[in-house]
Amino acid sequence: MYQNRPVLTLGIETSCDETGVALYDGRLLAHAVYSQVAMHEAYGGVVPELASRDHIRRLVPLAREVFRTARKNISDLQAIGYTEGPGLAGALLVGASFAHGLAASLAIPAIGIHHLEGHLLSPLLGARPPAFPFIALLVSGGHTQLMRVEGLGRYALLGETQDDAAGEAFDKTAKLLGLGYPGGPALSRLAESGAPGRYRLPRPLLGKASRAGELDFSFSGLKTAVATLVRNEPSARPADIARAFVDAVVDVLAAKCVTALEQAGLTRLVLAGGVAANAQLRETLGKMAGAKGFDLFYPEAELCTDNGAMIAFAAALRLQQRNLPRQRGFGVKPRWDLPAG
Ligand code: KG4
Ligand code: ZN
Repeated sequence: MYQNRPVLTLGIETSCDETGVALYDGRLLAHAVYSQVAMHEAYGGVVPELASRDHIRRLVPLAREVFRTARKNISDLQAIGYTEGPGLAGALLVGASFAHGLAASLAIPAIGIHHLEGHLLSPLLGARPPAFPFIALLVSGGHTQLMRVEGLGRYALLGETQDDAAGEAFDKTAKLLGLGYPGGPALSRLAESGAPGRYRLPRPLLGKASRAGELDFSFSGLKTAVATLVRNEPSARPADIARAFVDAVVDVLAAKCVTALEQAGLTRLVLAGGVAANAQLRETLGKMAGAKGFDLFYPEAELCTDNGAMIAFAAALRLQQRNLPRQRGFGVKPRWDLPAG
């Protein structure tokens, strides 16, 4: 689909606690991710200064690794995409400096990419890419948004979280259950052995009665409900609590996806971001897709969480379509709403 005029593009992702590097030229040639999770675990969350320093340490070895795997030389490179924002300022600066320095030395373009655009387009890297337009559910550690995606750079926000992001709710609930940091994946694994229906947690903002928009979300109350449950039922099995939590989150996310599809009159749904790796979310929406007649797309699990492949892909696509983001020289945007285009 995107294989005409391949441009060898290096992708650099350093917005938070994963260093991601990839090479793309119409197909994904190589990608490597170094996760800093073990380093931040002791602090129960990401320490920005440590994150920046570690990106500095990892970037060059990872870049060497992808060139080796792809059997390409640095001199073959034609473009570099890097995450310009949003994210941690110092961490973003590491990637931006590397990208601009290397691009200047090779006299090739350095293209600043919005991190969420990378996530949104990541399912297009798959063997069965969705056609535009589609509805996207973007669920990560920092964001929970429903978007209508018309094409590259044409994104309309339909609804978003009013407080915690879905991934944040997973991580905070996991912490409550003593599952470490970031506990999202561990919590979803634990939930698989929990008894469904043993406990019932609220489905925040589900239905039309709320004052927030019908496609908005709220997850901070759910974490409080879990804390209350843990306190009131000291003998409750953590797996059953985990199951109740995941069931509640998945119910809300899935129902709002269906509402968004119906309202937009579209039949393609894309899942992206770290929480899109959640097996129960994929399975529930997969069943709904069959029952309600829509097509479901999501990247393979390793491309759901932060990676350089999605950044390389977004940059290559923008170059190919001559649709480069407006950019004024070198800089990063730690806070940056996805432009509607
Ligand atoms: O997209 P991502 O790697 O980083 C951000 O841009 O935030 O998403 C990370 C988030 C974390 O909150 C993590 O706990 C969550 O995604 N996550 C999951 C799963 N895998 C990662 N949440 C639920 N189930 C999973 N399998
Ligand atoms: Zn992300």
